[in-house]
Amino acid sequence: MMELADWEWSELRFDYYKTDCNIRYSYAPDQGWSPMQISTDETLPVPLAAACLHYGSSLFEGLKAFRGADGRVRIFRLEETVKRLQASAERLCMPVPTREMIIEACTEVVRRNLRHLPPYGTGAAMYLRPVEIGTSTSFGVKPSDEALFVVFCSPVGPYFKGGIRPIQVAIDREQDRVAAHGTGDVKIGANYAASLLPYRHARALGCASVLFLDPKEHKYLDECVAANFFAIRDGKYITPKSQTILPSITNKTLRQVALDMGLEVEERLIPVEELSTFEECGCCGTGAIIAPIGKIIDMQTGQEYHYTDSVGPVSYKLYQHLLDIQYGVEEDRHSWNTIVEL
Ligand SMILES: Cc1ncc(COP(=O)(O)O)c(C=O)c1O
Repeated sequence: MMELADWEWSELRFDYYKTDCNIRYSYAPDQGWSPMQISTDETLPVPLAAACLHYGSSLFEGLKAFRGADGRVRIFRLEETVKRLQASAERLCMPVPTREMIIEACTEVVRRNLRHLPPYGTGAAMYLRPVEIGTSTSFGVKPSDEALFVVFCSPVGPYFKGGIRPIQVAIDREQDRVAAHGTGDVKIGANYAASLLPYRHARALGCASVLFLDPKEHKYLDECVAANFFAIRDGKYITPKSQTILPSITNKTLRQVALDMGLEVEERLIPVEELSTFEECGCCGTGAIIAPIGKIIDMQTGQEYHYTDSVGPVSYKLYQHLLDIQYGVEEDRHSWNTIVEL
């Protein structure tokens, strides 16, 4: 990808653009993890019978690096990403990348692709995608004891071009994203595969995402396809507590930002009916930080919940505060940023 003018950075989609190189490690039981390899290849060598192709031995992460107002380069919440990636590998019985490897790979991929890191002020950032796949060959279902761990990156444009604005989401009671005691709390490919059909149904209704309910009783709010849910009411930031949602790092961060701003934070079961009482609702995740929800459509009951036509004041304050920390404008009092030494 060529270097771009500022306006072109702002026009980038939230999508994959090829950069100069990626970072790789391979694992074999008798050798452990290989030293770091730097590759300019956009493809991976994967055996036909590899576990990742057949049995879902695949996990990933997503985080961002930012060029700050002061010119310094920051990766947001790298230590939290390390923990969640390791939890996903444990859950899939895959070799667990070490903390040092993950940190080295994420910082090195930024350093080596600096010309693709968008300038401050364009609203664009660099998205990092760590991914681990099981490469053991077998026709039997079993954990993969060989693996590839790769970190690649791509510049991404601002999630909402022309400013943050509300989306619509759809509740689907017919298809669950995950099982009640399944893998919802880790970031593995299989969870996303299961959400694609409900996602397609929601898209057909003009919705940007699905709002899943708890898979056991379908009584409580869980989360969206690739984002957690939160709501604002009476000076409170309210978000679901559930075993079947991915512990969003953005949500965890927003809970702290909310406390710092003097809001109360409630993490608890949220019955679907409570949707009619909220002042503001939103999805939160690394991509957008916050996508305000303007309308929720219950696909099976036909019920609709309407919120504001523009971003609510509390959501916007949370969003802006977090963005300012990421770009080094606001003090990073909780040490969420890792400075990449250049
Ligand atoms: C299912 C799911 N929930 C929530 C999130 C938000 O998590 P985070 O804030 O760590 O990006 C994501 C995206 O990573 C996701 O895929």
